[in-house]
Amino acid sequence: MIGIFDSGIGGLTVVRALMDELPGYDMIYFGDTARTPYGTKSGQTVIDYSLQNTEFLIKQGAKMIVMACNTASSVATEALKKNFDLPIYEVISPAVRLALDETRTSAIGVIGTRATINSGIYEKKIKEQNPNARVYSAACPLLVPLVEEGWLRKPETRMIVKKYLHPLKVRQIDTLILGCTHYPVLKPIIQQKIGKRVRVISSSTAVAAQIREFLSSSPLIDRQFSKTGQTGFYVSDLTPQFEKTARSVIRQPIRLEHINS
Ligand code: DGL
Repeated sequence: MIGIFDSGIGGLTVVRALMDELPGYDMIYFGDTARTPYGTKSGQTVIDYSLQNTEFLIKQGAKMIVMACNTASSVATEALKKNFDLPIYEVISPAVRLALDETRTSAIGVIGTRATINSGIYEKKIKEQNPNARVYSAACPLLVPLVEEGWLRKPETRMIVKKYLHPLKVRQIDTLILGCTHYPVLKPIIQQKIGKRVRVISSSTAVAAQIREFLSSSPLIDRQFSKTGQTGFYVSDLTPQFEKTARSVIRQPIRLEHINS
């Protein structure tokens, strides 16, 4: 079973991408909705939550952990790798790899939560591989609550996206990384506001493609994964609003189970 966690809706964009890349693989998702958002919390708190979420997923039988959250990926990857002996995937490196493959001008934009942008992790990873790259980042703290609220097509959301993207647009970036797993559900608006010539990279689809590549080239590991097409969805707080948004992200009926975190 592939174990996936996030603070909320964002992880579901990764589950959706994994369902598309690896149809039939059993998965278990945990959304820490009682403690969302992670993007405004301190690094240590996000590390503690990430360790607890991972323990829960392993207890349920996960054989691989996907940190489907850029915020957790930027601060807690090392702690998870130190504490658990199973493949751990973060979402930042796959998005960086894809962005560097795609960019022609090496002018790359990154948007994410305040915690992710303040960590400087995208810039660091991009520059490690291409020291000449120009990286322009913008924290977009209002986007996570808008997504959780299901405000996906409202004029107010369009206006806020436009305002956040303006500083990146004037830098004439040719590639934009969605450095938060909540943002792919806003991709149509983001693409429209940044312009159709800019390649928009989602960390959710990037990590799913990397996991597919890994499993198809490691048959011994792949054999450990059950493939009965089942996905369990667990959350630490369950509200009708979350249920509604979750269904629209997964695009199929799902049953969410409430557990205490
Ligand atoms: N989805 C998470 C991410 O990718 C962040 C959401 C939050 O702030 O909790 O960063």
